[in-house]
Amino acid sequence: MSEQTLSNLMHEDRRFEPPADLAADANVKEEAYARADSDREAFWAEAAERLDWGKKWDQVLDWSNPPFAKWFVGGTLNASVNCVDRHVEAGNGDKVAIHWVGEPDDDTRDITYAQLKDEVSRAANALTELGVQKGDRVAIYMPMIPEVVVAMLACARLGAPHTVVFGGFSADALASRITDCEAHVVITSDGGYRRGAASALKPAVDEAVAKTGDLVRHVLVVRRTGQDVDWHGREEGGRDVWWHDAVDGASAEHEPEMHDSEHPLYVMYTSGTTGKPKGILHTTGGYLTGTSYTHWAVFDLKDDDVYWCTADVGWVTGHSYMAYGPLANGATQVMYEGTPEKGRWWQIVQDYKVTILYTAPTAIRTFMKQGREIPDGYDMSSLRLLGSVGEPINPEAYVWYREVIGGDRCPVVDTWWQTETGQIMISPLPGVTAGKPGSAMKALPGISADVVDDDAKSVGNGNGGYLVLKEPWPAMLRTLWGDDQRFKDTYWSRWPGLYFAGDGAKLDEDGDIWLLGRVDDVMNVSGHRLSTTEIESALVSHPKVAEAAVVGAADETTGQAVCAFVILRDSAGDGGEDIVEELRKHVAKEIGAIAKPRQIMVVPELPKTRSGKIMRRLLKDVAEHREVGDVTTLADSTVMDLIKTREGSSS
Ligand code: WT7
Repeated sequence: MSEQTLSNLMHEDRRFEPPADLAADANVKEEAYARADSDREAFWAEAAERLDWGKKWDQVLDWSNPPFAKWFVGGTLNASVNCVDRHVEAGNGDKVAIHWVGEPDDDTRDITYAQLKDEVSRAANALTELGVQKGDRVAIYMPMIPEVVVAMLACARLGAPHTVVFGGFSADALASRITDCEAHVVITSDGGYRRGAASALKPAVDEAVAKTGDLVRHVLVVRRTGQDVDWHGREEGGRDVWWHDAVDGASAEHEPEMHDSEHPLYVMYTSGTTGKPKGILHTTGGYLTGTSYTHWAVFDLKDDDVYWCTADVGWVTGHSYMAYGPLANGATQVMYEGTPEKGRWWQIVQDYKVTILYTAPTAIRTFMKQGREIPDGYDMSSLRLLGSVGEPINPEAYVWYREVIGGDRCPVVDTWWQTETGQIMISPLPGVTAGKPGSAMKALPGISADVVDDDAKSVGNGNGGYLVLKEPWPAMLRTLWGDDQRFKDTYWSRWPGLYFAGDGAKLDEDGDIWLLGRVDDVMNVSGHRLSTTEIESALVSHPKVAEAAVVGAADETTGQAVCAFVILRDSAGDGGEDIVEELRKHVAKEIGAIAKPRQIMVVPELPKTRSGKIMRRLLKDVAEHREVGDVTTLADSTVMDLIKTREGSSS
């Protein structure tokens, strides 16, 4: 976060009261906070009543073996039944579940809940036919097409945990995730549309599958773009199966099994502070309770709303607030295949009369740069509520979002949460909270957050420290896939009994929370989490690189940007003219295009302490063009001078 933004945060005194009509009719009122405080478990038990259960739970929360929580112990349910079947049974089969908008103009599909139920049932039958059984993991690597939601729900129906890998990740990243969770089946498509052109996905799957030996038995492929693919069908002993062959002809009848409340629903890999991504495990009953309740409470969801979350399904936002939360609530939503392009979003808002929009600050800042003339050209009077997620929203972007997109009438909910938390944790309630631009305000009813110092003591109003969560919550991660120890070490070892989120935060004079960004080696680029260490490992895996250090530098549009400092091997000489481009491409290949450094500087040395730890703080000063801070703890204090002389000459 820039100095500018920080000083703005300190001086922000604008307040936006909830609109009177929204407040009067709000799903959640002020009293919810006190009710949840007086009996947290009763509060979440009531929220769990939103779902259909095969068998009710015997115990709301088992916290006898912390940090391993069990919610709704003894209960059984099926997530896909809760997301589709029950809405059809309640007579809402004709309600549109998904207004799908493809990237090419006029490529649209409306899918009702009844159609979704049939499609999910067919896919579940097809997966069973391919040998998928309860407990088996299935990897999903797909663009934003309806089949990705169908695939996820079909897995959930069978009790086969899915792991969705963002389509922008590389073959290597996909391979490591397939290997880590031992997936025998991969669901993908020939390709997807990106900025007006078909972009292939299947070749990356072929490459990933080849790297994982005999692990993957079947690759189920949706035909989306019609581009040529390398095909090895079952008839010739290969793994490839077309989705339309396997799914279209399958029966639309599928008897769902009720799964244990703690049955694994999915694994989502996210970057940590080491090179190896963490497999965040979410289970069924608590996760669905947490996402369904918060989607209803934070977005004040009503029956006739048209909701649009712009996140890609490859991230947790796409899981909790595009797939599971909204569908469990029987909402009508928009799903868009493309990226933020001039005018296209606002055309969609106008065409579908979107009422609730949930997006990321980086998108808002991109639109701000393009100018308000573009959104001003559309009728967006249908909007009544705006949400933000992924990184701190600076007050300027908040106010622009509110005024230009929301016509100064829509409340903005700035929602703080993480892949790990599964559900929104800190956010205004739109019918209750007077919003402050830049603040996520306070923990939702039933959630307990605080800001503490190094000794785990509450900092109190007016002070900054580390954000912690004090009580277990339904959608919390249960562990890291296959690594209980890392789960304990990462989140629960810093202070006994407190969940360490990795974020810095400040409590203002009213006790409202202002998020200040990560305090660990995790970067946030366009709301996506990247690990400095992971990118450093990618860089040093290049034959010309001896050492690398990566920092997240403030960036006007993307929040942070990846900046790398590399020392080349002697054998590489000066690396050649194109060394920077070569290394950027290498990172894209190892991890994915989103991890490509914005800037790479070839340097003779890196600043290290006497114990050999790289002082990233100093590199960040260079990357953000600041006066370099205190260098007294450096083993060699002249190193920074050497680096700064290079700065002038690098790209
Ligand atoms: C990290 C989690 C939550 C889904 C998207 C990202 C940052 C997220 C906010 C917000 C300030 C935020 C935090 C958090 N973050 N939302 N409203 N205000 N910071 O999920 O990849 O798991 O990243 O994103 O730093 O720890 P994620």
